[in-house]
Amino acid sequence: MNLLQNFSAFRPHEFTTGWRSPSNIAFVKYWGKKGHQIPANPSLSMTLKECVTETKVSFTPSDTMKVELFLDGVKEDKFAAKIEKYLLTLTDIPELKKVSYSIHTKNTFPHGTGIASSASGLSAFALCLTEFLGAKEEDFYKTASFLSRLASGSACRSVYGGFTSWGDESDYYASPFIVHPDFAHLKDSVLIVSSEEKSISSTAGHGRMSVHPFAEARFIQAKDNYQKMASALTTGDLEEMGRILESEALSLHAMMMTSPEAYTLLRPNTIAAMEMIWAFRRETKLPLYFTLDAGPNLHLIYPESHQHKIKTFISHELSKFAQRVIEDERGEGPAKC
Ligand code: DP6
Repeated sequence: MNLLQNFSAFRPHEFTTGWRSPSNIAFVKYWGKKGHQIPANPSLSMTLKECVTETKVSFTPSDTMKVELFLDGVKEDKFAAKIEKYLLTLTDIPELKKVSYSIHTKNTFPHGTGIASSASGLSAFALCLTEFLGAKEEDFYKTASFLSRLASGSACRSVYGGFTSWGDESDYYASPFIVHPDFAHLKDSVLIVSSEEKSISSTAGHGRMSVHPFAEARFIQAKDNYQKMASALTTGDLEEMGRILESEALSLHAMMMTSPEAYTLLRPNTIAAMEMIWAFRRETKLPLYFTLDAGPNLHLIYPESHQHKIKTFISHELSKFAQRVIEDERGEGPAKC
């Protein structure tokens, strides 16, 4: 399945556009690849609302490819080089090499908070590129998801609002996933335990799965968790959703700790907060659950209907383990800007 073949006759032209695209938090984790940007197991995520990247791109026909990128108005050659490298992989559309790209981008979430900007940033750029290519309306988001995946796997799930799955219907692009109305207003308070840059990138972490002694068992577990999570989200089973959510977070980090070149991204405060959440749940029976992406920061997931008591607990108790708390929730997906 190669959606890019639709654009083999594409010819560059002068064009400017802008997209705002959100980050997402995986409820079932993508961790491990087979081949180039093909996930080893299906994943499922919730698209966020407040953590977004806004990107404007001016495309100009040119003899050679040129990429310049400004983050908050400051020229960033490192990010420009990453985009250039990505564009060079899109060999099915050779004319993309004859374009000069001027990219202005900014994140609404604060810098240096440890929140990954690759899903929002790369999906925002891919959406601009999809529009430049002139994708047909009916294929627009599928193409944007396909192009996002090639830049960063998790980015392919950011092109839709609500919940999104990838690796079930297709390995090549993500699809919207319809959930029970009880999950329409889930909150995500992000406990920023550490804002230090990760010692091992996600891409390097995926790579380590190829030599991991437990990889096959993990892929079986992830496929099983995907089915269970999909069923819990569809039927409105909050407790089962929370159980799988935490199992996925812990399995992801267990994979890092048990890989041949072992490492951990957890910090003492991550563990302390996790234990406090378990105790809170035991005592109050309130539905507060956590997940983690490839870092030390906890995403606290809970329904809006219990937000009053849970937010009080977060600000009085959990916030002592955090540098700050970012309030987010389920969002509606990307929009033009
Ligand atoms: C732990 O999408 O960042 O957040 O495809 O190499 O760019 P690349 O990896 P990336 O991996 C995300 C890993 C994760 C889990 C997830 O979002 O599903």
